[in-house]
Amino acid sequence: MTPWWQSGAIYQVYPRSFQDSDGDGIGDLNGIAARLDHLVALGVDAVWISPIFPSPMADFGYDVADYCGIDPRFGTLADFDALLAAAHERGLKLLLDFVPNHSSSEHPWFRQSRSSRDNPKRDWYIWRDPGPDGGPPNNWISDFGGSAWAWDEATGQYYYHAFLKEQPDLNWRNPDLRRAMMDVLRFWFDRGVDGFRIDVLWHMVKHADFPDNPANPDYRPEMGEMHAVHQLHSTDQPEVHGIAAEMRSIADSYPGDRVLIGEIYLPVERLMHYYGLDAPEVHLPFNFQLIDAPWQARRLARLIGDYEAALPPGGWPNWVLGNHDRPRIATRVGEAQARVAAMLLLTLRGTPTIYYGDEIGLADVAIPADRVQDPRELREPGLGLGRDPVRTPMPWNDSENAGFTTGEPWLPLGPDWRTRNVAAQGVDDASVLVLYKRLLHLRRKHAALATGDFRLLEAEGDVLAYERWQGDERIVVALNLSAEPQPFVIPEGEVLASTLGGEPQPGTLRGDEGVVVLTRP
Ligand code: NOJ
Repeated sequence: MTPWWQSGAIYQVYPRSFQDSDGDGIGDLNGIAARLDHLVALGVDAVWISPIFPSPMADFGYDVADYCGIDPRFGTLADFDALLAAAHERGLKLLLDFVPNHSSSEHPWFRQSRSSRDNPKRDWYIWRDPGPDGGPPNNWISDFGGSAWAWDEATGQYYYHAFLKEQPDLNWRNPDLRRAMMDVLRFWFDRGVDGFRIDVLWHMVKHADFPDNPANPDYRPEMGEMHAVHQLHSTDQPEVHGIAAEMRSIADSYPGDRVLIGEIYLPVERLMHYYGLDAPEVHLPFNFQLIDAPWQARRLARLIGDYEAALPPGGWPNWVLGNHDRPRIATRVGEAQARVAAMLLLTLRGTPTIYYGDEIGLADVAIPADRVQDPRELREPGLGLGRDPVRTPMPWNDSENAGFTTGEPWLPLGPDWRTRNVAAQGVDDASVLVLYKRLLHLRRKHAALATGDFRLLEAEGDVLAYERWQGDERIVVALNLSAEPQPFVIPEGEVLASTLGGEPQPGTLRGDEGVVVLTRP
């Protein structure tokens, strides 16, 4: 039988911004529980929640101070168990966010590690003597800018942090640390979670000798300082694969189809390694290509074809349009094309992941300077790298604060929440939300869409067209990626979904038109 994570769709919740239940302006677990019916009505199969563990929130939960607890801002372990039960009652799977590359500097392990050079936890993190000039041990740069090494006065060494200095990297070459972290997976699997999204999986192991990274000749400062070097030696080391395989063997030792999804930003050839080299690794190495790709039919067609061709035998594809780190699709391509993008995401072969708010066409929200929260923005201001604009509260209805909170929302709502919200779109047949629902419903109804084969069709201009089939069922998807009419002969058959509504026209796709057609045998 097809596992749920192949036929199903995943929905990402950014927990601070989904639903607040206690009026502190920050979303929480009880809030998510109260909104599960939205996810059921939408038609997704699983919800992935970004980190909810105790954290000083230097990076909003991606700095974990206790891997086996719940941050009080989000609730309690009992609230978590209740949420999990409520999700399961509704047939929804629940995935957590595992952050294995680094902990918080407030984690008891790191406090012990930094307490003295001979503390038993010293080697659980990455400590090095200064380089020959007395400065950092090498030229590695934090993804958030600046040297990736922080000086510890008390013990006279540097520690490595690929992100903030409040996020020291764990040393996965230490067997005790490795065991302790594998036990974290077991802790949550034992509680019943259905899987994990694994944060920066490709970062987890660094070159044992810590050589300098090569300079990037194409670097321009507006890219962000991390791009000054290629992360050749600080990421994607061969040893990571054994770790991912061990994580997989733990997932596989549990009943039900537990799933592992790897966050990996690498070129396709290297991404493919994370399906497993010698043994199975993650089920779904996140495929982020649609986030970066130029929005042009020929470019997308090539990218999709190349990705399909690169998949290893048995490797199941997946697609992502956005997440809590990247500009939203509605902002990248505009509202009309965001509908076309939804149709693409939900009809390509492979598991789609939907970012909360994209189902109502939410756009990036401009954040006034005095309300900036994201450390990414605060460290390298003005480059447009900040992530607050894509993490704003979910607008549920036109009541105060869009139904998100009775308090002051931690980030501002966008200007259009009184009309762009779940309640309003739910009763508007032409809304983005109804389009998402229709497409997700079609995936459940038509095996050709959920699990069927895939082939690109010939198309000209800015039309992307492909066919999905299973058994006798054949479905053609034709997408006009521009606002201008484009020549395309829509095959005879039943139009199952359209981004525009109305009747398709002969020989043409209207501007911004996408159609899903069940063709006649
Ligand atoms: C990737 C996460 O998606 C991002 O939000 C976070 O800042 C870094 N990893 C560090 O954990």
